Amino acid sequence: SEIIIVKDEQEAGAIYGHSVANLIKTKPNAVLGLATGSSPLAAYQALAGIVHDEGIDMSQVQGFALDEYIGLPLSHPESYHSTIFRTVVEPLGLDPAKVHVPGDALDGASLEDGAKVAGAGAAYDAAIEAAGGIDVQILGIGTDGHVGFNEPGSSLASGTRVKTLAEQTRADNARFFDNDVNQVPTHCITQGIGTIMKARHLVLLAFGAGKAEAIAETVEGGISAFCPASALQLHPHATIIIDEEAASRLR
Ligand code: F6R
Repeated sequence: SEIIIVKDEQEAGAIYGHSVANLIKTKPNAVLGLATGSSPLAAYQALAGIVHDEGIDMSQVQGFALDEYIGLPLSHPESYHSTIFRTVVEPLGLDPAKVHVPGDALDGASLEDGAKVAGAGAAYDAAIEAAGGIDVQILGIGTDGHVGFNEPGSSLASGTRVKTLAEQTRADNARFFDNDVNQVPTHCITQGIGTIMKARHLVLLAFGAGKAEAIAETVEGGISAFCPASALQLHPHATIIIDEEAASRLR
């Protein structure tokens, strides 16, 4: 992987923004892989700024999000469907019909809706393939090395599928649900590590000392399902953009 150490999230965001803006100028129907969470927000803002300044046509751009909760209606403000709309579709002026989130076919369906839930992962991977595959996948990383909702122990060959959320992740995300862990869904649907590895370019962003251990494991540890992000070592075009604090455990 290529490691770029930056001063702050804005500098990282500008690198992503210029790279993706150039891609869209040469490929107007580029396929963007999208993440939620705080790490990519400055990158989306930087890209939106360039798009507006240069008047780049975004009408053909396609998007595929990494993951979604199971059991929330799409209209719930904390569904990743809603979050991607607020943080990506609106600011970038994307066509909402061209932006997909793994739970879109479920819309509040519960795990008991077995037939609906069972086919959703494979259908999502097929939709990515049909769109031509993801050109640039933006990634954050969990403090335990997760990418998407692929927690430690996830198969490095996995496709999009239903997973149980780790208790730590539910506790971390309770901040979005009135600080009440009982309101946080227990399951999710996430692109697999195998899905993520098919993207032509991966851009992983991490900031702050809390990510330092996970970044060291990802970059310098052995390739292992115990740190799902370590699979990036096998990717031919992975760019890891981090600040000094997130880089502080690298040798
Ligand atoms: C988000 C996602 C997660 C986050 C990760 C880091 O769609 O899949 O893997 O990227 O939990 O979250 P932040 O960026 O909030 O630290």
